[in-house]
Amino acid sequence: MGKGSGFGKVILFGEHFVVHGVPGIVSAIDSATDAEVTQTGNELAIRDERKAAKGYAEEKRLQQIESIERMLTTMGLDPKLPLKIWVGGTLLGFSGLGASAASSVAIARAISEELNLKLTGEKINQIAYEAEKAYAGNPSGIDNTAATFGGLLWFKKNISGGQNTIEKLRIRTPAEIVIGSTGKVANTKAMVAGVAERKQKNPQKYDALFKQADALSYAGRKALEAYDLKKVGALMNENHRLLQEIEVSSRELDLLVDIARREGAFGAKLTGGGGGGCMVALTPGKELQEKVAAAIEKEGYEVLRTKIGVEKI
Ligand code: MEV
Repeated sequence: MGKGSGFGKVILFGEHFVVHGVPGIVSAIDSATDAEVTQTGNELAIRDERKAAKGYAEEKRLQQIESIERMLTTMGLDPKLPLKIWVGGTLLGFSGLGASAASSVAIARAISEELNLKLTGEKINQIAYEAEKAYAGNPSGIDNTAATFGGLLWFKKNISGGQNTIEKLRIRTPAEIVIGSTGKVANTKAMVAGVAERKQKNPQKYDALFKQADALSYAGRKALEAYDLKKVGALMNENHRLLQEIEVSSRELDLLVDIARREGAFGAKLTGGGGGGCMVALTPGKELQEKVAAAIEKEGYEVLRTKIGVEKI
């Protein structure tokens, strides 16, 4: 049996914009997806035991099968290879936490181990990127990169097709965050395609917003490296406004953002593809984290208390 795992993530700056070459900042979180793979039987059999938002597994089922076929093809294997796959782990199947990328990385590593392929991290990342296309259509690669390498990363896609820029960022000490889930399963592929379509229709408006997003990511990096968390939070708020403008937020996401800010979060924004999925609030210190988390739970939403900038889980 081969085993593997992949990190979950939150995007602090730049989701959606990152698909079009704007840099993004992503942090792995302290939960991961695990996979086990055995080469047996005569057809693909998947047992998905991840704790997930209602309807997540069903909604993602066909995309999951396509992602595995893509993975096998990229590995130079038969896409119909009969594998028995188990998926589980501590990462919740909530849209926005990179659950699809984490599972692709976990499964790719488990296949590599089962078939003794000895694939490097770079190769696993590339395979998971191909697999992500099943879920996101035209992904940037930020999710699979965070799922493979973990840590806090600066990611810039090379839109001409060359090497992406991936840099490890270091912060003084990990900082508490709260992730709030709307409970709504989001279709990342449709969200990414929607932004591309509106960008093409309104080039002037979108060019201006993309310029602001670019500047925000650079400012966010500077503030993180200086450990100026108040500033990081203010920039996250600004990022949420841009995401509202490109129409990827939702009523529930805005509500969760509002609750977090009202309770004293340094900043809050949607994270990931939007349209449902999750919100991230920067809440340094256990006390503030608990205050924000409890207020969101009181409104009936599920939360995850975790940290950014954690190196290992
Ligand atoms: C999803 O976590 C992030 C998006 O920017 C898509 C991508 O970058 O592949 C929405």
